[in-house]
Amino acid sequence: MEIQTDNIIISDFLINWYQQNKRDLPWRDIQDPYKIWISEIILQQTRVNQGMNYYLRFIERFPTVALLAQAEEDEVLNYWQGLGYYSRARNLHKAAKQVMNDFDGIFPNLHSYVLALAGVGSYTAAAICSFAYNQPYAVVDGNVYRVLSRLFGLETPIDSGKGKTEFALIAQQLLSEQHPGEHNQAIMEFGALQCVPFSPDCSNCPLISSCKAFELQQIANLPVKSKKTKVLNRYFNYLFIEYNGNTFLQKRVAKDVWQNLYEFPLIETNRLLTIAELFENKEFIEIFDKINSVEIYKISNPMKHVLSHRVIYAQFVSVNVSELSEKLKKSIQISIRDIDRYPVSRLMELFLENLKC
Ligand code: ADE
Repeated sequence: MEIQTDNIIISDFLINWYQQNKRDLPWRDIQDPYKIWISEIILQQTRVNQGMNYYLRFIERFPTVALLAQAEEDEVLNYWQGLGYYSRARNLHKAAKQVMNDFDGIFPNLHSYVLALAGVGSYTAAAICSFAYNQPYAVVDGNVYRVLSRLFGLETPIDSGKGKTEFALIAQQLLSEQHPGEHNQAIMEFGALQCVPFSPDCSNCPLISSCKAFELQQIANLPVKSKKTKVLNRYFNYLFIEYNGNTFLQKRVAKDVWQNLYEFPLIETNRLLTIAELFENKEFIEIFDKINSVEIYKISNPMKHVLSHRVIYAQFVSVNVSELSEKLKKSIQISIRDIDRYPVSRLMELFLENLKC
């Protein structure tokens, strides 16, 4: 593809556009690799508006990599609560410890070392190395895929191996040699504000005369994705068990959604159960084994909670018990008032918010 001479112009255009249109964001125009790393991890799968407060709160509590490494994982997850994709927070914590142990607490500046940190993939490594150290690594995120596919009329599916290789190569060719950091910020911001997924305002685009997709009227069809994400439905019956002002929690230790967050005892089924079905359910019987009085006094309306590859249908079953079973004795028993101390999913949080009203 003959884009070399044009590239210089395209990169100049992008940087110029960026200087005039960029949003004023707290992680911009800083060189601290730690803060850049935190912001990039938060901004994966999270919109800027939503991520901003999380970023500010996180940096206030954990201003340095050392303070993050020293914290308990539960506290780190608490600061992440509501953002979703909790493996990002667990990996941040793990990587902070790696920096302390393997690099004497100094954030590495070699691309291969940055890439070796837990949870850091090629996008994040390129963002850190280019923003913090102005190293020539091109970022390729969803925005960049969109801009490049349209600009050059590229129809290779972006979720295929071939597409990933092809787009990475083109992004690298397009990268400004003098200003890789600013170029990367510019192309992402251009994708976020100008070359948006639906109905972009092409008549006001500085790159309209170079845009292949505009010329061929293919804007709405690019980028191409080959696969539809498969979505799996799951059904969670949560037991909010009350016993003398206390309730019961368990930690989700399995490699599954919400790993290491806390939740009420859970019965997962292939559809939400009625009261009669609950009393006949094997797990329910086991949880309340040999208890004289088990009273279900309320079942919440069904709640639908959408995750990237899952839709979770949940209901909260409020149960009063007069005594404890062996199983409950082994669960985490806490005062209902103390529940805020535990990191929980957004779904649990929504139920707890209603409880307080
Ligand atoms: N999305 C991902 N990284 C970003 C950044 N640094 N600024 C704005 N949006 C982003």
